[in-house]
Amino acid sequence: MQGVFITIEGVEGSGKSTQLLHLSERLRRLGLPLVVTKEPGGTALGREIRRLLLERHGSGETWCAEAELLLFYADRAQHLETVIRPALAEGKVVLVDRFEDSTRAYQGASGVAESSLDRLSELVLRGLRPHLTIMLDMDPETSLQRVEVRNLSLGAEFAETRFDEAELDFHRRVRNRFLAIAQNHPNRVALIPARDPVDQVEAAIWLRVAPLLRNAGFGVD
Ligand SMILES: Nc1ncnc2c1ncn2[C@@H]1O[C@H](COP(=O)(O)OP(=O)(O)OP(=O)(O)O)[C@@H](O)[C@H]1O
Ligand SMILES: [Mg+2]
Repeated sequence: MQGVFITIEGVEGSGKSTQLLHLSERLRRLGLPLVVTKEPGGTALGREIRRLLLERHGSGETWCAEAELLLFYADRAQHLETVIRPALAEGKVVLVDRFEDSTRAYQGASGVAESSLDRLSELVLRGLRPHLTIMLDMDPETSLQRVEVRNLSLGAEFAETRFDEAELDFHRRVRNRFLAIAQNHPNRVALIPARDPVDQVEAAIWLRVAPLLRNAGFGVD
């Protein structure tokens, strides 16, 4: 049996990791063969790339847009080759926290041309698409407040997270790109309102995931 490939996308703080945890626990209870992973950093080498992407370098140097883009796709290529494709070939359900749509939304909002994204996507994905993308949608003003609360609860070293107007504007553009992706790929993308309470979002996600798994031959009720 061919596996099922599900990604979860959305702006920061929209609840991706929370919902992925709930969904994976539900699928585990049902006894489904499962791989839960994330980008960037779904492999050992990918975690090195994640560190290079997300941690500020001591020199103060930052990645130029193209270098950053190539690092994201290097991470994705390794992840697809060593984790995602093998798991799908073994008939597993693969859940990924952020994937291609995040690159398109964030790097696109940073000014990378659509044609560059298309070429790298073709090289790395070779036509592979998620069967379902859960896209959690909400306004970044609220989602970034959630991130602030979360980061404060994680400890003082993360407490410096005030988002200024320029950052908010960037996140609004990211959201709009996610919305455009959902509109252009209505069969793949399930757009889910993410401001609702966790249980309500979870129920909305399950309404989209359960039929997909049933169709793929997994026994879920
Ligand atoms: N539906 C919800 N209502 C209220 N709070 C929520 C909801 N979902 C998640 N949260 C809380 O909001 C914070 C951000 O959630 P989470 O870390 O799951 O988001 P994320 O989309 O994975 O963020 P990031 O993009 O930074 O990885 C967490 O503290 C989480 O507990
Ligand atoms: Mg997360």
